[in-house]
Formats: sequence, structure tokens, C-alpha cells
Amino acid sequence: MSTQAGGLRGVVIGESDICDVQAEGNLYYRGYNINDLADHSTFEEVVYLLWMGRLPRKAELETFVHQLRQEYAIPEGLLAILKGFPGHADSMDALRTGVSALGMYDPDAGDNSAEANLRKALRIQAKIPTIVAAIERLHRGQEPVPPRTDLGLAANFLYMLNGREADPLYSKTLDIDFILHAEHESNASTFAARVTVSSGADLYSGIVSGIGTLSGPKHGGAALETMQMLLEIGSVDRVDDWVRPKLTGEKRIPIPGFGHAVYRQPDPRSRRLREMSRKLGELNGDTRWYEITAAIEKVVDELSNTPERLAAGKQAIYPNVDCFSASCYYMMGLDLRLFTPLFAIARTSGWCAHMMEQMKPGARIIRPRLEYIGPHDLPYIPIEQR
Ligand SMILES: CC(C)(COP(=O)(O)OP(=O)(O)OC[C@H]1O[C@@H](n2cnc3c(N)ncnc32)[C@H](O)[C@@H]1OP(=O)(O)O)[C@@H](O)C(=O)NCCC(=O)NCCS
Repeated sequence: MSTQAGGLRGVVIGESDICDVQAEGNLYYRGYNINDLADHSTFEEVVYLLWMGRLPRKAELETFVHQLRQEYAIPEGLLAILKGFPGHADSMDALRTGVSALGMYDPDAGDNSAEANLRKALRIQAKIPTIVAAIERLHRGQEPVPPRTDLGLAANFLYMLNGREADPLYSKTLDIDFILHAEHESNASTFAARVTVSSGADLYSGIVSGIGTLSGPKHGGAALETMQMLLEIGSVDRVDDWVRPKLTGEKRIPIPGFGHAVYRQPDPRSRRLREMSRKLGELNGDTRWYEITAAIEKVVDELSNTPERLAAGKQAIYPNVDCFSASCYYMMGLDLRLFTPLFAIARTSGWCAHMMEQMKPGARIIRPRLEYIGPHDLPYIPIEQR
């Protein structure tokens, strides 16, 4: 199989001390287990960890949080650009273009030094939620709400969406969701961001590559597809009829929210999101979306993880990070338009960590080869004679 058809599976492109994704179902950010971070940390602290390589001391975290909050607001000129987008624009297209424009307002534009990159990363991370919230408000025909610098990143994002403070449980749920989505080694969008800056291009260009790559349904768009599936199925008793034919036909049709390029055991992030989905359902007095997802999981397991398939070398299929985050977002009242941008807000931290690592002095441009399989020396026939 060519490496293109093989999707570069298992190809190691370099060394990194940011993140360890283990096929047996473990995930570490800078050596810390994702479950410990989800239990005890905050998204801001995780961003510090990813960028600085260690957990902050109390005063360091306070300064970092303060600096982020001071950068929440976006330039008036950018707001005017966002207002000029067509009403039907896709949220990820709008975000990609918004971030691209934001780069031109950055006082460090043109400076790719490590110090400038850290300042730029901080501005991008602080402003991306504001851009996403503004895009959503404009889509609804509402005026964007200015950020509140007394709120954390997740709480402020929910505030900007609705113009009022969210239930603390929702802010906490989103904060944990951001921690779980922050980083994942050389995933497609992070690889794209690293390739972009390896040429000497700036951090904003890398983020634009990352957003574009993340938007696909095989990557960050999977939570949206998962929720569309849940809505289409609508009730637990319809799950079997919907899922079974997709996995027993001549060619299996992938079920959104399941499968992973690296994990061969359950995705450690999905366990946590599963719990959050159940809890939100119980609090809302409607566990339907959690139950439908859990029922899909059962059928996928029954039809995928059979001794025969596994003995034939097929990979085991389990829920991935998007599987239960879909119902969590939905139960928090977040529009489907926001699902993929939410992933982008969180993953910006990982993209920036990787780009700053990639931009260390001495790194070479990433330039793999393709094996040419076309013809050679074809005779050039004048256009009139073709
Ligand atoms: C994530 C994903 C792109 C990984 O793809 P990959 O590593 O290239 O895996 P493959 O597509 O080669 O699949 C390998 C086998 O597992 C099966 N499989 C993979 N994902 C599956 C899914 N979501 N549902 C059912 N079967 C699946 C494939 O059918 C294939 O089996 P087959 O050879 O019998 O057809 C893939 O699992 C997928 O499309 N998932 C749905 C989208 C999604 O949730 N993406 C978010 C990832 S975090």
C-alpha cells in the first residue's frame, strides 16, 4: 500500500515532549495523565503547561490568566470584517478567515522570535473564543457581546454567546471539555500547522492551516456529524435499525464518533465525556441523547469487536472524543454550528505548543516525498492535433 493510501499511519516525523498518545488508551500532556488534568486542573493551567512545559506556580498562573483576559477583546476592524460575511457562511469558514485577518492586527506581525510567538499565541488563544462567539451572534442576527475580563475562558465564552452568565456547571463542563480537546500529538490539524510554520511562515498561518484541516468530518467535524446522527435516530428503539445495516453491508460505513487512527483501546477522553453526558442528561431531566449514544456504542461493539474480526487483524472500534461531547454540547444548548469551532478553541493551545516547538532554531522544513507512478517522456502534441 502506498503511504498516501496508508495515511502515513505509524510514520514518526520527529521528536516531541508535548504529548504522548498511547494505543492502549492512555493520554499524557507533558507527562501528566489526562484524567488527573481533567479532575484537578483548568483549561488556562493546561495551556500554560502545554506552552511552558511545566505546571505554573500560583503567581505565575495568576499572571498568565490576567494576561489572557486582557487580550479577550478583538479589534473593531476585525468585527467589521466579521459583520461583512454572508449570513449563511459556515462557522469554520468564518473562523478561518477571521483568524487570518486577525494576524494583520497583531503588533508582533512579522516577528517570528520565540518571545513574539509566545505573545502571539496568547493573543490568538484569548481572542479565538471572542471571534467564535461574535460569528455565532451575527449568524443569529444579534450584536456581538463584548467579553468580560472577570470570567475564565470557558465561562466568558458562554457569557459572550448569550449576554448572560452561564450556569457554573455548564462553564465547568466546557472547561473540562476544553482540557480534553486541547492537545493530541501529531493529529492531522496539528501536523498541518507544523508543516506550515516549518517553512518559516508565521503562527497565524499555521492556525489557519489547523482550522482548515480540523473542519473535515474525519477530524474535528465528527462531533457535528455525531449529533446529526443522534437527531436523525431520535430514540433508542431506532438505533439498531439505523446502525446495523451500515456495519453489515458490503462496505462498512463509518459511524461518526467511533474509531481512531491511534487508539486500539477505548479513547481515554471519551470515558470522561460519557460521564459528563449522563450527568447533564440527569440534570436536564432528559437522558435521551446519552442513552441513544450508549445504545449505538453497544451495536458498534457487537458488530466490530468480534473475535473473528479481531483475529483477522481488524482494529477494535470504540467511542472517540467526539462521541459523547456531541450530546454534552447539545444539552448545554449550544447550536450545532458551534460544535467544530469549540474544538478549534481548545485545540489552538495544542497547535501553538507544537508550532513553537517546530519553530525552534535548526528545525528543517517538513518536506516528505511522493512516489511518482505516472508516465514519462510523453510526446507533446500541438493543440490543433489533439
Ligand atoms: C477516525 C477515523 C478517520 C480513523 O480512520 P482510519 O485509522 O483510517 O481507520 P480505517 O478507516 O482504515 O478503518 C479501519 C477499520 O475500522 C473500521 N472503522 C473505522 N472507523 C469506524 C467507525 N467509525 N465505525 C465503524 N467502523 C469503523 C473500518 O470500517 C475498517 O474496517 P474494514 O477494513 O473492515 O472496513 C475513522 O475511524 C472514522 O472515520 N471515524 C468516524 C469519524 C470520527 O469520529 N472522527 C473523529 C476521530 S477523533
